[in-house]
Amino acid sequence: MADRTGAPNTVEHFDDGTHPEFYYPPQELVEHSNVMAYAREKGYSTFEELYQWSIQHPQDFWSDMATRFVDWYAPYQQVLDDSNPPFFKWFTGGKINVVHNAIDRHANGPNRDKVALIWESEQGEAKRYTYADLEVEVNRFANVLKSQGVKKGDRVTVYLSRVPELVIAMLAIVKLGAMHSVVYGGFSIDALHSRIVDGQSRVVITGDGGWMNNKIVELKNITDGAVDRAADLVERVIVVRRTGHDIAMHAGRDLWYHELAARPGMDAPCATEQMDAEDPMFLLYTSGSTGAPKGLLHTCGGYQVQVATTLHFTFDIKPDDVYWCTADPGWITGHSYIVYGPLMLGATQVIYEGAPSYPDPGRWWSVAEKYGVTIIYTAPTAVRALMRFGDAIPAKYDLSKLRLLGSVGEPINPEAWRWYYRVIGQERCPIMDTWWQTETGAFMITPNPTTPLKPGSGTKPFLGIECDVLTEEGKPAGQDDDGLLVVKKPWPSMLRTIYGDPERYKETYWSRLPGFYTAGDAARRDEHGYYWVIGRIDDVIKVSGYRLGTAEVESALVSHPAVAEAAAIGLPHELKGNAIHTFVILRQGFEPSDDLENELRKHVGKEMGPIARPESISFVPGLPKTRSGKIMRRVLKARALGLPEGDLSTLEG
Ligand code: PRX
Repeated sequence: MADRTGAPNTVEHFDDGTHPEFYYPPQELVEHSNVMAYAREKGYSTFEELYQWSIQHPQDFWSDMATRFVDWYAPYQQVLDDSNPPFFKWFTGGKINVVHNAIDRHANGPNRDKVALIWESEQGEAKRYTYADLEVEVNRFANVLKSQGVKKGDRVTVYLSRVPELVIAMLAIVKLGAMHSVVYGGFSIDALHSRIVDGQSRVVITGDGGWMNNKIVELKNITDGAVDRAADLVERVIVVRRTGHDIAMHAGRDLWYHELAARPGMDAPCATEQMDAEDPMFLLYTSGSTGAPKGLLHTCGGYQVQVATTLHFTFDIKPDDVYWCTADPGWITGHSYIVYGPLMLGATQVIYEGAPSYPDPGRWWSVAEKYGVTIIYTAPTAVRALMRFGDAIPAKYDLSKLRLLGSVGEPINPEAWRWYYRVIGQERCPIMDTWWQTETGAFMITPNPTTPLKPGSGTKPFLGIECDVLTEEGKPAGQDDDGLLVVKKPWPSMLRTIYGDPERYKETYWSRLPGFYTAGDAARRDEHGYYWVIGRIDDVIKVSGYRLGTAEVESALVSHPAVAEAAAIGLPHELKGNAIHTFVILRQGFEPSDDLENELRKHVGKEMGPIARPESISFVPGLPKTRSGKIMRRVLKARALGLPEGDLSTLEG
């Protein structure tokens, strides 16, 4: 039985193909998988043996990957510099640019005429870009940015809908050695404004609008709201035309992309900047425990090595695969596994612009059928939403080309897992339940095509990655006991710092259990060493897989004149995973009413974006607080769930 001193790190011989708890991958898939090919090459016959080697010699493993999947302009001198933890450096001395690896080398090699990107609009229009086409588009966009003064080291904020120009703009920015800071097109004025200011972006790229559910998302209006508040900073707004509807253009500040691109010289080749491995590549903002924006910084070398490696082994990309990640390029999933990973590997991928259920809930499956998609990577919330419409809808489409499925963003509940496996994957396609974070840059805990699966578990760490589940005291948690999920050693695609705030980086990720990276997640490990992520232990709420901070929701509420104080908590929700519930103390002179509740919900939506609109607002006379005045959200949560309120000794007297 369980060894209470710690869960096993390795799996014993359970994988004889008959254990009732597991879903086994088809033998043929295992035999032909990229990971087995690599194991054989290294002289091993199982993934487990390969994994053990990779964690005993992580630098050899990552160095091997760094020479296999990416090209360097100049070789690195050191694989890992760990002389100043937690400020780790990878592949120091190396010169590299992801745009060379994702575009230039393919456009000038055998993949030149291969389709890189198939884009389908919500209205059903399709555009195809070969690697050669992408090279032309990226050069043009980079020339336009250069003509507007963008240069190495600058930060450029990108706020676009899911159009090819989003991918092209990101690549163009990185080509010049500048950093992109992409803000998801579903966010609103406040979120966009704070990110532009924190990153000090002089140039913002946006669109006139985007399409979602046959409605126009007013990207330019929102951009104006954000940029008007940062008038001293933002010199140029470049506007990509998508919807063609009327928008205001601010003379002297706003320019149309298509007009700039038509100027002489914009079609000329544009050199790809040779970057140091540790030069910054991009900023991506994410929610944490405070309301202040947290710009996570990723760098050029290690990031691309781990992204390419994980995609190759986990999703087993082969030359004739048609890969589709349904995320938005504006999130880390889209950065790593739409914009950079698939292109580095020379793959063909699909991007669909709009809503999964437009014009009907069969839309995704029709996209998969139409383009012969072989791999789908999506989020549990989408699976749950589509599952609601029943089995008959996907059954109308030919999904026989699918060979692998993926899940990311939150724990997938076993019921949704089984539906996805049975109805979409037709019991033939293993599900890669990938655990990772904006901070980690790439997969950390994930199955691969050889892994026996358990619905709801991300299974075990990726090659070269060591994780653990520890108690608050830093001891290994017992088998099946909840604990803190940690990463034990640095990894190439890790965040390097929080932009402009290295102390906060140390404090947030490396101080709770010194020497370990704490992920902010609780997890447990079972008798087979499989990890089960339970959820966040901080004040982050995962709503439909989107990461939102309670502090951000609260500050949006408090920015309304009727609100004196507010608290936000997450409670379980059948479709969204979690939903935001809020408690509000009104200012004098305001009375609770349904109208006010609606107005406040709308207000949060306007400030932060529709995703943050609270599920409920309760008007309360007071909030439980600690003696130092901190709101005790766990008490609110316990009350709402009808659970014991726990130790309340620190409540105010
Ligand atoms: O709580 C974990 C959850 O998402 C968090 C990271 O969120 P974000 O930075 O927005 O990145 C999402 C895309 C990588 C994690 O701390 N999470 C992500 N993937 C999983 C997951 N929880 C359980 N299982 C997963 N596969």
